[in-house]
Amino acid sequence: MSAHNTLWSGRYEQQAAASLRRLNDSYPFDKRLYADDIVCSIAYAQALGRAAVLSEDEVKKITEGLELVWREFDAGLFLLKPGDEDVHTAVERRLTELIGAPAGKLHTGRSRNDQIATDVRHWLLATVRRVQVRITELQRALLAQAKHYVDTVMPGYTHLRAAQPITAAHWLMSYFWMLTRDHERLNGVYRQCAISPLGSGALAGTPYSVDRQTLAEAMGFESITANSLDAVSDRDFIVDFIHAAALHMVHLSRFAEDVIIYSSPQFGYIQLDERYTTGSSIMPQKQNPDVLELARGKAGRIAGHLSGVLNTLKGLPSTYNKDLQEDKEPLFDTADTLETLLPALTGLVSTMTLIPAKLEAGLDEGMLATDVADYLVARGVPFREAHGIVGRLVRRSIDTNTPLSQLPLEDYTTISPLFSQDVFALYDYAASAAKRSAPGGTAPSAVRAQIELAETILSSSSSD
Ligand code: ARG
Repeated sequence: MSAHNTLWSGRYEQQAAASLRRLNDSYPFDKRLYADDIVCSIAYAQALGRAAVLSEDEVKKITEGLELVWREFDAGLFLLKPGDEDVHTAVERRLTELIGAPAGKLHTGRSRNDQIATDVRHWLLATVRRVQVRITELQRALLAQAKHYVDTVMPGYTHLRAAQPITAAHWLMSYFWMLTRDHERLNGVYRQCAISPLGSGALAGTPYSVDRQTLAEAMGFESITANSLDAVSDRDFIVDFIHAAALHMVHLSRFAEDVIIYSSPQFGYIQLDERYTTGSSIMPQKQNPDVLELARGKAGRIAGHLSGVLNTLKGLPSTYNKDLQEDKEPLFDTADTLETLLPALTGLVSTMTLIPAKLEAGLDEGMLATDVADYLVARGVPFREAHGIVGRLVRRSIDTNTPLSQLPLEDYTTISPLFSQDVFALYDYAASAAKRSAPGGTAPSAVRAQIELAETILSSSSSD
């Protein structure tokens, strides 16, 4: 005599406490797995049919019933009942209402332990691909912008201090390559997700002759897990996804920080489109870069999820423990964050404008000091010594408050007799950038090659 109609009420005389239910129930956040749960259950029913555990008629009834439940969910007509503690319970309860007795056979040899592990992997397979598409869109936006600014010179920074002239396209493309690695990293995550744990049972495996590989392929997986104990508690693929997301967010955050600085009125290097900025409720003049600040802020949130899930996993004894239910909210939030952020960031990048005159105004002759040292190197001076000589020249420029190109030639020749009039030709920012033409350098010629490579990668990308 069961006190309450839950999946496990058989051995219970008393109804679960309301506070236990509030703590224990995962339906509020795992209901979004309904389609995955149903697809995998249909495949499982068919596998049980092939194993002669279910009759053909039972498989048909279960399949049709599950499709009906699926439609109810899709239409927003699915009604939750008191015993539904998670998505699996809810789907099975509804199936029972719809088709009666055969529904009770669906769970034969299966546990919610292998079921949830399968559902989440299945959900992630599609999610990883969607996120990859979003990343690719942002890459296309960066690339399209880069093409406009191949010959535009701007200050390159180290320590946020003006360092050497670079081309603006080179700066934009630097983020393209970070995103290429992120995309590639997600291919690795996808491969980890594509391994099916179904058929692992609660922990020890299944006694039924289910062909796990055929079942795996029917659900869209590539292969099967090798050890049932590991399979029901393995959440490495979730850690892998959140890690890939967290590192991707680090890249987005760094880009955001650059653009926040460059679009600030003091710099004025970049003009953001009004549609991607917000106003202040009190200061009418403000145009705030909220999209970028949220990119930066949410990077912290996702890094927190990574740390959270690692800590959930670290002390678990062998196989399934309810702690594992804690994987879902950080996982879903991570995916939702990326899927919300990336389109806004892509919009911002596609509509922003770089202001060449401002970029140029940010340059100063000190940024050509390395070129002056290289001039001496070309005249046989060891670089270390040349660095010292140019340092003294810079000192002179500071002391006399005179730009390097305005110092008299005598100041140069006093410091080193190797200087002659042609040294002044060095004070040309574009020429300085153009010299860095080895592959990977900032010269327009090298950046054009970089852009070509990026286009090849994008045309073969999006999946695997
Ligand atoms: N909601 C559970 C989870 O997310 C499903 C698995 C429940 N398994 C169990 N033995 N109680 O992990």
